[in-house]
Amino acid sequence: MNQPGVGVAVTGTGSMVPATSLSNEGISSLVETSDDWIATRTGIRARCLAKPEETLASLATQACRKALDMAKLEPTEVDLILLATSTPDDLFGTAGLVQAELGATQAVAFDLTAACSGFVFGLVTAAQFIRTGTYQNILLIGADVLSRWVDWGDRRTCVLFGDGAGAVVLQANDRDQLLGFELRTDGTQNKYLNLAYHPEPKELLPEVTIGQNTFHPITMNGQEVYRFAVRRVPEIIEKALYRANLTVDQVDWLLLHQANQRIMDAVGDRLGIPAEKIISNLAKYGNTSAASIPLALDEEVRRGSIQPGHTIVASGFGAGLSWGAAVFNWAR
Ligand code: ACO
Repeated sequence: MNQPGVGVAVTGTGSMVPATSLSNEGISSLVETSDDWIATRTGIRARCLAKPEETLASLATQACRKALDMAKLEPTEVDLILLATSTPDDLFGTAGLVQAELGATQAVAFDLTAACSGFVFGLVTAAQFIRTGTYQNILLIGADVLSRWVDWGDRRTCVLFGDGAGAVVLQANDRDQLLGFELRTDGTQNKYLNLAYHPEPKELLPEVTIGQNTFHPITMNGQEVYRFAVRRVPEIIEKALYRANLTVDQVDWLLLHQANQRIMDAVGDRLGIPAEKIISNLAKYGNTSAASIPLALDEEVRRGSIQPGHTIVASGFGAGLSWGAAVFNWAR
């Protein structure tokens, strides 16, 4: 697509993580594990955890401010705020709280839930509003506070996750920088990874019983998720590259959901992408779910390794099960 004003460009990035970091040594005093086990199996060395008063909205808002600064855009110029998250402050939606904190008075705001695929699904969703000419300036956020929903007595899951937020500004542009994408869901495999509501029957009247309770902590079949990721992610990246009319060797950066270093290495191997092109910040942050891709993107942009015109292929995968890939150029 190269019609004037209906292309999509990523023009700003920002991120925020909580100040508190929990190392593998620290987690070893909570559950029977070790730095060696966690680092060897996952590549994770530490994760940042939100304090009770650190809300998802506050982390997201701080990430947005940085992204807006980079794009040289005022909050009042934003048309849409799209918040990809599975851990809202409010089940009715948290994007509105971000809108209020930012003072983005002209923006419509809503949440999108697609777990660790949320940022990629959000990127494609936001792009549609720009390509149809509906909106010009969009804030897309990936943010999660999974520490709220982890069973801190379950060593199979608690070592993996961390909290954080990443944001990008998407703007209408003459040249479309979103070059291709592909998205998938397989709900029949939901059982392998979920954070599900577990209703308890509550009788209101003899003939009226409803369900009330809360969500249960994350449960995961690690081996099934691992198998799913190393098979499906290379496949979907190849499809997205095909749609972009690009080959693997034209990719400057492979930006995968930061779930496990072994998954990233295996995907790189299958695609023939060398390790130096694979972005990884997993050691510091663990798996921050929807935040992981924009957080890693922001770090590399600010470090200067991602240069204008570079081609990035991003792929998110996780609960749903869901997975997706998007190919884009860094515009600035
Ligand atoms: N410390 C020490 N031992 C552990 C730990 C731990 N933290 N966790 C599990 N173990 C033990 C198990 O109890 C088991 O012991 P047993 O054989 O005596 O029962 C043994 O280690 C092997 O367990 P597995 O589950 O088979 O370990 P595996 O090698 O598969 O590694 C892991 C587990 C790291 C979770 C891996 O399966 C994985 O990375 N899977 C993908 C998970 C993922 O990416 N999830 C996120 C994607 S979706 C999203 O982001 C929401």
